Amino acid sequence: MRRMQSPHSPKIAFIGGGNMARALIAGLLRQGVAPALIHVGEPSPDARAALQRDWNVKSSADNAAAGRDASLLVLAVKPQHAGQALRALYPTLLEYRPVVLSIAAGLRLADLARACPPGTAVVRAMPNRPALLGAGVTGLYAPAAVTSAQRALAELVGAAAGRAVWLRAEAELDVVTALSGSGPAYFFLLAEHMAHAAAALGLSPDTAALLAAETLYGSGLLAHQGTALAEERAAVTSRGGTTEAALGVLQQGGFDALIARALRAASERSAQLADMLASTQPTEPE
Ligand SMILES: NC(=O)c1ccc[n+]([C@@H]2O[C@H](COP(=O)([O-])OP(=O)(O)OC[C@H]3O[C@@H](n4cnc5c(N)ncnc54)[C@H](OP(=O)(O)O)[C@@H]3O)[C@@H](O)[C@H]2O)c1
Repeated sequence: MRRMQSPHSPKIAFIGGGNMARALIAGLLRQGVAPALIHVGEPSPDARAALQRDWNVKSSADNAAAGRDASLLVLAVKPQHAGQALRALYPTLLEYRPVVLSIAAGLRLADLARACPPGTAVVRAMPNRPALLGAGVTGLYAPAAVTSAQRALAELVGAAAGRAVWLRAEAELDVVTALSGSGPAYFFLLAEHMAHAAAALGLSPDTAALLAAETLYGSGLLAHQGTALAEERAAVTSRGGTTEAALGVLQQGGFDALIARALRAASERSAQLADMLASTQPTEPE
């Protein structure tokens, strides 16, 4: 028998209770979702104990028990475990018909859909690491057949980690992976180089690292306010001043072309990894 949930109190199942699931659960609780509405399927007893202790959310070693009655099932295992986990959940997906939201990097909708009963609403999301602090940004993609109510359910989880942005095509997730997924590493690298350069100019390494990290943090807060990035840059750059001198060196050194190449490499790698993952997915339900 197919059971329906009230749209006002959707039960959310997480399959996998690792780092990203914990970040998303923390965000949902911050948004006022009751802990009783969240149930996590997770094999590790330590991870289950931590979920109970930290947030009082139910967890189970049995994914089918976690998925019972769920309106939304968040697939939060490593990509290589996702196909198998979904196939084992086939009867649960058939009975309760939850929206499946996959955060597994690179696992494509076609492969996810093959592991689910026909007609399952499947949505993909790519969160990023700042989600751990509620400051993430998540790219979401759903095919046209996914209804607006189903999208709203999926967005609840995306927005719990920070901001959620809907994409126009699944392939855009490779670009999102290159931009916001890998992006924190680019900013950290830039800050590391800035700190090393400042230390070479005479600051103590600790002071330089502190100043670089705090500059990264403060700049992020300014960017978060929504002013155009170029405007924020212009606000620091007076004609003939120190910032203009530094930016001139970066431009002459091909900084923009280098960044464009870096993002292209990350996006192409994301697509390659997805191809490799697709070739390893099992084809028959368990
Ligand atoms: N972390 C990030 O910044 C980030 C960003 C974007 C997307 N993602 C995606 O998020 C997903 C989870 O990443 P993560 O960093 O949270 O990984 P993680 O910390 O390793 O969490 C995965 C959890 O799933 C558990 N698990 C393994 N097989 C399972 C199964 N069959 N059923 C239920 N649970 C199972 C694992 O338990 P064991 O450890 O006992 O195996 C582990 O606790 C990945 O697909 C990743 O691509 C992560």
